[in-house]
Amino acid sequence: MTSRYTTKRPRRLILAVDGPAGSGKSTVSKILAMKLGLLYIDTGAMYRALTLKATRSGMNLEDEDVLTKLAHGTKIDLKESIGGLKVLLDGEDVSGLIRTPELTDNVRYIAKVPGVRKEMVRMQRAIGENRGAVLEGRDIGTVVFPDARYKFYLDADEKVRVKRRYDELMGMGQKVGMGDIKKAVSSRDASDIKRAVGALKKADDAVYIDTTELSINEVVDKILLYIGKWGQVHFSKK
Ligand code: DC
Repeated sequence: MTSRYTTKRPRRLILAVDGPAGSGKSTVSKILAMKLGLLYIDTGAMYRALTLKATRSGMNLEDEDVLTKLAHGTKIDLKESIGGLKVLLDGEDVSGLIRTPELTDNVRYIAKVPGVRKEMVRMQRAIGENRGAVLEGRDIGTVVFPDARYKFYLDADEKVRVKRRYDELMGMGQKVGMGDIKKAVSSRDASDIKRAVGALKKADDAVYIDTTELSINEVVDKILLYIGKWGQVHFSKK
């Protein structure tokens, strides 16, 4: 059956931002959403929250049927707050629990399950369509909103992405070694790219931006310029 998303543009303004870990897409998407008055939807946080629920209950992470049922019985909300985006798992604020290296490593088991992805995509469309949004993830431009008005694919050299991830974890007070981060980033890239459903992939009509040598604000300005809003919204300082 053809989804209506493949034949019609979504009613609201949707910006799809995809790319690998450390490409800068989270920070860029948050700023864009704020400047454009749109919702910011961190789809990775949704996969992370479900992973937390599965690991907490000691589930077999290889059992796709059980994981699919779990996805159907779970409520994940993203709430904007002064301290940043709050991730609510069945009403509990789990924002501080879903970024550990162990959890990050386990997301791959949940993210490769077709039934889980189907349910996530359904939730993401429902939230995005409601108000218009900047969605960031791996499959936004290819699966979630293939007819999004604007699509971007952010990328950067692996060395730079590893350093960004290292800085991010250190900033959260987590003691990590650069070697471990490098291993974790490349194995996560591999599972994101090789997944049979919802794999990390640039949509054919997405604009590719290499952020290796760019500051966050330079990327934001590039995107605002592209969508014709540059100058209409607050200028970014370098
Ligand atoms: O963006 P992130 O690093 O928080 O994402 C965590 C993991 O979630 C990532 O390795 C793959 C998965 N993910 C996904 O499969 N599909 C998405 N749309 C977003 C994230």
